[in-house]
Amino acid sequence: MSAPRTPRIAPSLLSADFADLAGAIRAAEEGRADALHLDVMDGHFVPNISFGPAVVKAVRSRTRLPLDVHLMIAEPERYLESFAKAGGDTLVLHVESQGNITALVRRVRDLGAHPGIAISPDTPLERIAPLIPEVDEVIVMSVYPGFSGQSFLPQALVRLGAVRKSLDRLARSVDLSVDGGVTLETAPGARGAGADFFVCGNSVYAKGQSPQENLRAMRNVLDSTPVGPPSDPPH
Ligand code: DX5
Ligand code: ZN
Repeated sequence: MSAPRTPRIAPSLLSADFADLAGAIRAAEEGRADALHLDVMDGHFVPNISFGPAVVKAVRSRTRLPLDVHLMIAEPERYLESFAKAGGDTLVLHVESQGNITALVRRVRDLGAHPGIAISPDTPLERIAPLIPEVDEVIVMSVYPGFSGQSFLPQALVRLGAVRKSLDRLARSVDLSVDGGVTLETAPGARGAGADFFVCGNSVYAKGQSPQENLRAMRNVLDSTPVGPPSDPPH
């Protein structure tokens, strides 16, 4: 049974100060983050360009936190080996990317990393059904991929709930991640829908507030939110 796990938080470095990634990593560690989320964007799959394997490698050299590498790239096949060698623990492929995604998921496993799959807001969930038995993480996008700081799309809650049901039927644990617009206000809904891995960009690295404090606040909110739909108020 893959019941939801204790909630875990992965700050997304896309929202950090790229001129001080070491400081952002340190702050995440001090705030007891569970992992780091690294958004790789190629200007084709999404309009934005972020960073590639060299930056993943540099981050790897500064932390032992698990690195969750979210590949928003058109042709992942060309780069899987580089990202595995750079030290990505989980390599997450978009189901909408080019290539035989099932074969690529297996390739990630062969490279010694954990395979994950991400699905964009408008893609039918049936597309990931055949991949679920093969992956260690499913990311349900709650914004259109490409940029941090967007608003949470509420339809993600229904999608999280549906994926939660499929995962609950498995005999092993698979992380159910929510990525995009996760804030103190939206995280409880996602937790209620069954997410157990929370990618937080702006809500951790917002200007003017300490990431450590932001992480603590997010942890408090998540720890006090029960999984499952809100219970009926007493009569
Ligand atoms: C968006 C990325 C997200 C982004 C989240 O394409 O996949 O990981 O960094 O940032 P926030 O939490 O600010 O929406
Ligand atoms: Zn991401």
